[in-house]
Amino acid sequence: MTTPGTFTITARDGAARRASLATAHGVVQTPAFMPVGTQGTVKSLCPRDLREIGTQILLGNTYHLYLRPGDELIARLGGLHRFMAWDGPILTDSGGFQVFSLAGLRRLTPDGVEFASHIDGSRHFFSPEKVVSIQQNLGSDIMMVLDECVPYGADFDYTKKSLALTTAWAQRCREAHPPLHRGQLLFGIVQGGFYPELRAESAAQITSLGFDGHALGGVSVGEPRPEMHAIIHSSVPHLPDNKPRYLMGVGAPQDILAGVAAGIDMFDCVLATRNARNGTLFTSTGKVNVKKAAFRDDDSPLDPACSCYACRTFSRAYLRHLYIAKELLSYRLNTIHNLTFFLSLTKRIREAIETGGFASLKAEMDAIYPPDAP
Ligand code: GUN
Ligand code: ZN
Repeated sequence: MTTPGTFTITARDGAARRASLATAHGVVQTPAFMPVGTQGTVKSLCPRDLREIGTQILLGNTYHLYLRPGDELIARLGGLHRFMAWDGPILTDSGGFQVFSLAGLRRLTPDGVEFASHIDGSRHFFSPEKVVSIQQNLGSDIMMVLDECVPYGADFDYTKKSLALTTAWAQRCREAHPPLHRGQLLFGIVQGGFYPELRAESAAQITSLGFDGHALGGVSVGEPRPEMHAIIHSSVPHLPDNKPRYLMGVGAPQDILAGVAAGIDMFDCVLATRNARNGTLFTSTGKVNVKKAAFRDDDSPLDPACSCYACRTFSRAYLRHLYIAKELLSYRLNTIHNLTFFLSLTKRIREAIETGGFASLKAEMDAIYPPDAP
């Protein structure tokens, strides 16, 4: 087996890279999209489905799994892979972001963050060492450091102070997890808000700590899309070329294309799965709402260009009916379709980089999913 963390770039097209990343549970071909499996499941799908649609790596959440069913229980049952019966690579987010977006009554101290559970209000404390220990118990292939995701609109001074805290926490996470301990990789997270000089400062600090890969956090936090793309383009050059780069919580098709164009290798986003459940489907001709009236009598597949089980098997009229009747199968088929869209998009991106056709693929997709759309 290739040593976990081995990152091999096999083709380039402009700043875009085609690479592979070895983990303890297999190799990830990049650019890669990671379906979100927050609570140890990608909502409505089972691992068989995930394999069939071409999933390479899943994302799980420290915050949720720590609160329920508990990381120690998962460790006793053989770790997260065994528990959820997914034997491919898993990346876990550190919990920092979820504490800030979900939990109540947060209190930030130099030592970590105290919060109240969104489930029962019980009080907990995440230190850098604690989130490393939880992720070691889960046994994820890629662990993330504890960070503070700075809200959009935060001023320069707040963002600068926060970045220093994120660096101090990153260093403590690194010290709590020796390189390649148990084959688990550890990625650092760059913050710095929408201030290019603070992104550069954060990147200089984080990339000096010897992580296996680097993430950009604190994007897709409510900013206009062009601003997101601009900060990605200005930040990526501060990340080393020879390690994987992960854009956290992003994004829509146009954001993935913009990220790849800037040199990003990995993406995750709830958009594909969450939108599927509320009836918004991504297709080769744009976003459509499955309940639209025109689908009522339409016997054709949702997206004739899509090879997923839902498009191969069912009509637009049937998918519309399932959604309106609130049938459970609606969630499942819509999720299979939307994830297939994102996984096929990243597959096409990988092929385009190999043949020098990335710019033309991006132009083609940008006409359907405009980079300046709200
Ligand atoms: N997911 C989306 N954005 C972020 C971020 O800034 N930090 C972390 N830890 N996770 C995220
Ligand atoms: Zn489909």
